[in-house]
Amino acid sequence: MAQKRILLGVTGGIAAYKSAELVRLLKKAGHSVQVVMTGGAEAFVMPLTFQALSGEPVRTSLLDPEAEAGMGHIELAKWAELVLVAPASANFMARLANGMADDLLTTVCCATEAPIVLAPAMNQAMWANARTRRNLRLLEEDGQISLWGPDAGDQACGDTGPGRMLEARAIADRVDAPARQVLAGQVVVVTAGPTREAIDPVRYISNHSSGKMGYALAAAARDAGARVILISGPVSLPAPAGVEVRSATSARDMLSATENAVEDGCDIFVATAAVADYRVESEAGQKMKKTREELSLTLVRNPDILATIAGRPRPPFTVGFAAETNDVEKYALDKLERKNLDMIVANDVSRPDTGFNSDRNTVTVFWPGGSEALATDTKTALAARLIDLIAARQHHDDTATPRKKTNSRIKR
Ligand code: C5P
Repeated sequence: MAQKRILLGVTGGIAAYKSAELVRLLKKAGHSVQVVMTGGAEAFVMPLTFQALSGEPVRTSLLDPEAEAGMGHIELAKWAELVLVAPASANFMARLANGMADDLLTTVCCATEAPIVLAPAMNQAMWANARTRRNLRLLEEDGQISLWGPDAGDQACGDTGPGRMLEARAIADRVDAPARQVLAGQVVVVTAGPTREAIDPVRYISNHSSGKMGYALAAAARDAGARVILISGPVSLPAPAGVEVRSATSARDMLSATENAVEDGCDIFVATAAVADYRVESEAGQKMKKTREELSLTLVRNPDILATIAGRPRPPFTVGFAAETNDVEKYALDKLERKNLDMIVANDVSRPDTGFNSDRNTVTVFWPGGSEALATDTKTALAARLIDLIAARQHHDDTATPRKKTNSRIKR
């Protein structure tokens, strides 16, 4: 079972008392839980209750200098691998649907890339209300947010009907319900982030890669049941829980870390890293002095990690990425063939709104004889879709192309 970092948002409703039990169940299942309460929630349950159960300080305010000095709200949003709002009141859903960021919980929901789950709880007439329905439609259209529940039945106010929050046990079970385990028992190696090529002991050549796509793919492969090794260049992202992260600095470091991991048995290799194409021919042993007006550095080609792995005698199912500014399809297909890949994920980095360093991406996936364009979405959502596609194509190749037999030592 994948253990997750869960941010539990508690909003103002009588069902908030059930969330105390929910924290206990999530902790028992091994998840890390941090609780954020809205002002309304504090009227129903004491923060101390959640603090005692989660073992973490409870956050209640956006503008709390002391709490912000510990873990700022953006850090909290990045920390979360799942944001679960239970109970989610009608008022909270209205604020979320309209993009408000007027308290800590709505701000974290605006800032996070993690999936957001809402467990609504409200009176049945409020649930049926036209404005609430409209807000639900808006939330659905925007993506990233799923709705769990509500249940129908007796309500605290004496009414009967839909609007009861799901029981804590049902929510906790759903958190742990394995996503479709399409990669169960498989080993997935992912490269992510930039590389750094040293010029001298204090300077280097690098790029703006954030590592977000690779980290999202590693987490999605983990959720699909795989054992995941993430070979990461220098990035400022938290390690996804349950994923083995191995650090690499230069392209050559990354190549040897990748070869070692693949050597130990690997079914799927996904190269998302933005590997520097060149390195300085000879790194200066000491800090270079600025004595000359002009300075020339001789650069030499770095090894191509993706092509090296795809060129092995028994390669894993190999997936590359192509960041292009023009003729995206032409260059992607060329790379697919030239590097002997099973799949390539192409994105147009000339678009200012998505791609490099952004939280969202728009990609088209190509494989020999087919393609699929994926709608613009968060990198987390795209990663889950890509893992599904990889699993489907891998299965196809197992039967159709004997060349691509796995070199995993794990028996399936
Ligand atoms: O040839 P290009 O750099 O555009 O190819 C991009 C793909 O190749 C990405 O999947 C990237 O991770 C991988 N790559 C690599 N090693 C390199 C250069 C690129 O693994 N030296």
